[in-house]
Amino acid sequence: MIAKAELHCHLEGSIAPTLAAQLAQRNGLKVPDGLVRVDGSYEWRDFLGFLAAYDRVCTALHTPQDFSDVIYSYLASVAAQGAVYVEMFCSPERPRMLNIPYHAWLQALVDGIDRAGREFGITGRIVAICIRHLGPERALAVAKAVLADPHPYVVGFGMGGDEAKFTPADFAPAYRLMHDKGYGCTVHAGEVVGPESVWAAINDLPVTRIGHGVRSAEDPKLLDELARRGTVLEVCPGSNIALGIYPNRAAHPLHRLIGAGVRITLNSDDPPFFHTTLGDEYDKSGLGDEVLRHITRTAIEASFADPATKARLLREVGP
Ligand code: ADE
Ligand code: ZN
Repeated sequence: MIAKAELHCHLEGSIAPTLAAQLAQRNGLKVPDGLVRVDGSYEWRDFLGFLAAYDRVCTALHTPQDFSDVIYSYLASVAAQGAVYVEMFCSPERPRMLNIPYHAWLQALVDGIDRAGREFGITGRIVAICIRHLGPERALAVAKAVLADPHPYVVGFGMGGDEAKFTPADFAPAYRLMHDKGYGCTVHAGEVVGPESVWAAINDLPVTRIGHGVRSAEDPKLLDELARRGTVLEVCPGSNIALGIYPNRAAHPLHRLIGAGVRITLNSDDPPFFHTTLGDEYDKSGLGDEVLRHITRTAIEASFADPATKARLLREVGP
């Protein structure tokens, strides 16, 4: 099995419908109406419908232990697929909405990561993300909360949410704060909005990675610029196809991005929502083993882990 590393997976987006039902039940809550189809899959139609379904899944979470169990169970599942390193997108907005203090949430995630590390040898880290459609003031509040309570497992800063809302420049104050304190930065761009969204992200934010960025394939000048800068794209083909950005894998620009010299990684984004896994993304990429091993090394190099951890992981996965 090829060793894998993942840079783009959302904590709550990793919750399978069965786990959502278990969490809701133990918290004495009802699974929200309309969340799950009769075939057991999550119910949503388009990008905004997906974001709404994601919010509904979050209502099954209630306690710090829930967050601990979610990250543990994701790391356990992905370790079985050959993953040695996962950087999880975790938004402090979620515990805030549930009145869980930041520190208790963070400690629960750390416990889950340590448990999975002990049992499966996998290394987990956290990228704290803000939610774009909640606006720049909330993003700044998230950045300040993270900086007020640092932990070595929190290695980066990012932003998900509705890409059509606000501009990257609006979030520059939050990003600058995090970048200046040494946190690696990434941002969702070029997913539902075209290349202009990626241009704005690389020009206005201190990012070394772009979440998705696949729409860059529509602009040859942008591809050249990404290749020149060495910006790494967190590509999530299954997610893009499930969201209707491309009709199928043959139409997906993954191979064109690689051909243009852009550094890419493979990721699952929100696996049960998009009927995919990290293992599927590697298996269905249409890329050979040598290229896939190179992609794993790219992910480790582009990760926000400390240099000693990166060196250890690179030794572990081999050439
Ligand atoms: N939040 C969770 N998944 C996301 C995605 N694919 N795009 C933007 N925000 C997200
Ligand atoms: Zn994402």
